[in-house]
Formats: sequence, C-alpha cells, structure tokens
Amino acid sequence: MQRLTGRLGGLAYGGDYNPEQWDEQVWKEDDLLMRRAGVNLATVGVFSWALLEPEEGRFDFGWLDAQLDRLHGNGVAVDLATPTASPPPWFTLAHPEAMPVTADGTRLTHGSRDTYCLASPAYRRAAVRIASALAERYGTHPAVAMWHIHNEYATVCWCEQSAAAFRSWLRARYGTLDALNDSWGTAFWSQRYGSWEQITPPRATQWHHNPGHTLDFRRFWSDEALAAYREQRDAIRAHSGLPVTTNLMLPGYQVLDLWRFGREVDFVGIDHYPDAPGTDAAADTAFGADRARSFGGGKPWLLIEQGASTVYAGDRTLGKQPGEMLRHSLGHIARGSEGALFFQWRQSRAGAELWHSAMVPHAGADTRIFREAAALGEAVARLGELAGSTVRAQAAVLHDADSWWALDTRGLPSAELDYPGSLRRAHRTLWDAGVTTDFAHPEDDLSRYRLVVAPALYLLSDAGAEALHRYVEGGGTLLVQHFCGAVDERHHARLGGYPAGPLRTALGIRGEEYRPLAAGETVALSDGSTGTVWSESLRCEGAEPVLSYASGMLAGQPALTRHGFGRGTGWYLSTRLGDPGYAALMARLLEDAGAAPEVAGLPEGVEAVRRHGEDGRSWLFLINHGGQPARITVAGLDLLTGAEAGPDGLHLPAGGAAVLRTVD
Ligand code: GLA
Repeated sequence: MQRLTGRLGGLAYGGDYNPEQWDEQVWKEDDLLMRRAGVNLATVGVFSWALLEPEEGRFDFGWLDAQLDRLHGNGVAVDLATPTASPPPWFTLAHPEAMPVTADGTRLTHGSRDTYCLASPAYRRAAVRIASALAERYGTHPAVAMWHIHNEYATVCWCEQSAAAFRSWLRARYGTLDALNDSWGTAFWSQRYGSWEQITPPRATQWHHNPGHTLDFRRFWSDEALAAYREQRDAIRAHSGLPVTTNLMLPGYQVLDLWRFGREVDFVGIDHYPDAPGTDAAADTAFGADRARSFGGGKPWLLIEQGASTVYAGDRTLGKQPGEMLRHSLGHIARGSEGALFFQWRQSRAGAELWHSAMVPHAGADTRIFREAAALGEAVARLGELAGSTVRAQAAVLHDADSWWALDTRGLPSAELDYPGSLRRAHRTLWDAGVTTDFAHPEDDLSRYRLVVAPALYLLSDAGAEALHRYVEGGGTLLVQHFCGAVDERHHARLGGYPAGPLRTALGIRGEEYRPLAAGETVALSDGSTGTVWSESLRCEGAEPVLSYASGMLAGQPALTRHGFGRGTGWYLSTRLGDPGYAALMARLLEDAGAAPEVAGLPEGVEAVRRHGEDGRSWLFLINHGGQPARITVAGLDLLTGAEAGPDGLHLPAGGAAVLRTVD
C-alpha cells in the first residue's frame, strides 16, 4: 500500500474508468474533468475482455496502449484490472461446459456478466492467459500503479466440473470416505456415501440438505475462488512487482472466507454501497470499513468502489443527500482506507447499469454531483499526510465465515437466527456508543481488546472455544449471545450442555434447553426489559444471574449471567434484548471493561474516529451526520479548512466534517 500512496503522493482518488464506452471528444473532456476533480487513480479494464481478446488467443492491446498513455500524460495513475468477471460471447460458444449451472440444474449463458464456472479448467486457463498477457505487456508501463484482479468474486456453480473439484477438495480434507461419512453424519437419513463419485454439490433436493455437506461446499467454493485469485496473482507477479488485490464484495455477501482472502492480497480492497439512507448509511459505512480493516489485519486498505449518489434501499436506489459523498468517503478514510474510489467515473449512456450514479452524471459537469465530486477530490488531496496511519480499536465483534454459513442452514430451531443482522446490531450499538470496533476471528489472540462481543457464533471450533477461554482468563470482558458455540466445526451439536466446553467454563454456565420464541412473542425480564426470538434454560455453574426471566416457562431462571473468571469476566445473554436494553448492557460492559469512546460526550449523530501515525501524530475525524450544528471541545488543525480549532472548540455545522491533526 505504501508503494501506491508513495507513488500517488498521498491518498487515492478516482474510480472505474471505461473509456471504451466513449469517443475521442469525451476522452478529451475526461482529461479536463479529471484534472478539475483531482483524480489521481483510475481503475481500467474491469469489463474489457471482449475488446482485449476479440477471438480466443488473439489480443488487441492497441486501444489500451493509447488509453494508458493518455491517462499517464494527464497525471492519472492506473489500477489495471484483469477482465475475467465477464467472458466474451466467443468464450461461451467455445466452452459451453464452462457456463455456470444453478442449484436447480439450469445452465446459464452469456448476456449478462459473471457467466463462468470458477472451477472450470477452460475458464481458469483463459483467465490466467489474459492476466499473463496484460502483465507481460503492462508490467512496467509507467501509468500502472497497481493490479486489480477480477471483480467481486461471488458467483457459485453447481455443475459437473464444480462437482469434480469438490470431490478432490473433499478427498484432500478427509482422506477416506469413512471420515467424510462420519463428519457429515450420513448415518442420518440413509445418506452414506459408498464412493466419491456419488457425492455432488448440494443441488436442489427434496427437503433439508445435510448441514455438513452444505457447509463443506461453501468452504470448498471459497477455497476455489481463492485458488483462482492466486493463479492470476502469481501470473501477474511473474511480470510486475506492483501491489495486487481484488475488490471484495459488499458485507451482505458471504461467498468467501474473507479472513483467508485478506492474507493473500497485498492490501484489502472493498466495494461498499450503503443499504439504507441517513444515519443508517453512516453506520453501514463504518460496518463495511471496520470489516475491511480487520480482514487486512489492521493495515491500511482501499475503498475501490462506492456510488457517487446511490444508496440501495431494497427495491430502489435513493439519491445521496448533499454532502453525503464527502461524509461517506471520510467515514471510510477515517477507518483506514487510503483513499476513495467510485464505480464509476462517467455514467454510462447504455448497458445494464446506465442508471447507476457516477462522478460525471449524464447531465455533465455542470451538476451538483460533479461539483461535490470535485470538492471531495480537493478534500482527499488535503489528507495526504495521514497515508500509512492506522486505527486502534478497543472492542471487537467476532466474525467467522463458518458460523455464518452454518447459521444459514435450513432446519435450525428458529428462522430468526440472523447472522449478518446480529453482527450489524452489535457493531451498530458500539458505533452509537462512539467506540471504535474491529472484527476478529474467534481463534485470534484477542488480548488487545478490552471488550469482545460474540453475537452469532453458532459454530465454534475447539480452538476457538479455547481462545475465548484464554481471553477471559487473561483479563478480557466477553459477551456471548444466545445459541453461540452450539455446534463444532463439523456442524455436530456440542454434547453435555451448551456452549462448547472451555467456553462454558469461562462463562460459568451450562445451557440445558433452547426455547425459541414464537414470531412476535416477547418474554419479560426481571428489570422490566424484554427479550424476543430466543430463550434458554440455563444453569449457573459459577456465574451469577444478572437478569432472570420474569414470565413464561422459564420464569425465575437466569437470562443474563456474569462470571468473574481468572482476571476477566464472561457474560452470557440467552435472549435477544430489545434495543434500549441491549444498548444499556453494552454501555455497562464498556464501562466495566474500561473501553471509552473516541471523544466523550459527543452530540448525537457526530462520529469520531482517530488514525494514528508512527511519529506520535494522530488525526481525529469528526463527522456530523445529524441535522443540528455541534460544538465539540477538541483542539487541533483542521486539514480540510486549514483552520485551527481554538480554545472554545470546533464548530461543526449540520452535515459538516473536520479532520484535526493532533499530537498523541
Ligand atoms: C459492483 C460492481 C460494479 C457495479 C456496481 C454497481 O460493485 O463491481 O461493476 O456493478 O456494483 O453498484
């Protein structure tokens, strides 16, 4: 990353650039407008396969040579993409077996994008061939500053080639069919496999799938995508020493194990489009950004795509409010992004995404959107000095792909067990409390966090249970929420009481019986608050009850417990508290754990996050998402305005933002 920001002389600003959709006159205007907007990085070639390789094995680089030279001449560096997310029609016709097949057996064809099976040998060969050809030609081109592999690895396939690759993966994982049968529990429903060939991807079937089967297929597919990424990355590295990454999908998609991807990219890159307007969009931005930083082990990362004026809200896109482009971009940069890029530079006039927003809208440069894009470019340029600085979090929310996948299984006791929703809620509650939060894997060393929350850790490995035990014993404060640690990594129930053994000891409880609540049912708790979704019959084995059930069959039994264990404290919450109760619990835990907000006593709607440099300097981002002006007692030089926040503090207008340079 340092190599990229060093080359750019600061943070990155720009977006996807698709000059092949336009003519020379527009290119000339692009040059001018990119200068006006302070664009220094353009992502080129993401969907250019059909132009770069018009026939199998015949390359045409002439147009790209000209575009890269032009961009370079205009002072814009290039994030050069491999175009493998959208194979051209000739590819389908030459390799029909490489087209993806859905779980119900429908074979898809070209006409959209992402029409390939990642496990298809023909596709993989074609992808590496074009990646190698690009790297060979442009590996030392002066315009190119980084490599962008593929686009949002996410497409899953259930075809015969996927089946063959799945079987190889299973053989490597289990060695013998007996081990596989044991792991999947195939003694149930007469599912025993007598040969490897009998195993298929979990295609459409009569009722519930085997949960071990579906979990392993998701693990396999993530590994397959990672292998496809690595092949292209290594092909590029043979010709270029520049950083290589890919743009990871939005937080709602969990096709990949992003902890593993985070280890294979030179820096993490994400796409992020908020899924709701207003303050929810700001919280969602923080959610996406904190994930990105965490998957990269805390190192600086890059926001590769966002919408200039788009918030996805269910069945429609809503326009961003004036100033939101700046606030969202700063929200990402505050949490470790080394810049802000968009999809895309110029709004397309044709094609499937012609109504997707862009930095230069259909109406041209004389628009609010372009003026805001240009102002943002200026703001990003003023922040160059904080490149390389990092974010320190006091709290962590546990995040594990296996748990998400396992909880995404049909046939669990309640359909309201919502993995992404539970994670978002825990993160949002900490965000509302002004506390900077990481995500962490349950098997990590968590000792640097004062508070760790496990909102939906349904599946927990033995190693994870031991790590959490160690964390509490060593002095940490841990909150474990309902139905956590109920199954092991094979999706087998934990026997002898929930959750997993070593975690049970740290929490001082034994879960005996789970009692999901009916849709809309609430259960009263001893302090007058209520729980929904879930309840559990718990026995305290060392823990003290903090709240108990006040109604229903579990009346008098513990609902929330606290256990001093070693030097730390393990809390267990066996129901889903209402929002006020959950916020109050989190506030109590933060206080007990000694975790403080970045700036105490902030007015509602003001977000504060700090980036720390190695030289003792730090940069405090203050973003006012609310509708009221705010006065905040902080001092420092605001990089955005060049003004010093004086003794009576900083005045932040409604919707305003400041980035104060301070000394730690
Ligand atoms: C993704 C893709 C882009 C574009 C945007 C639209 O992030 O990578 O190609 O489709 O979504 O929001």
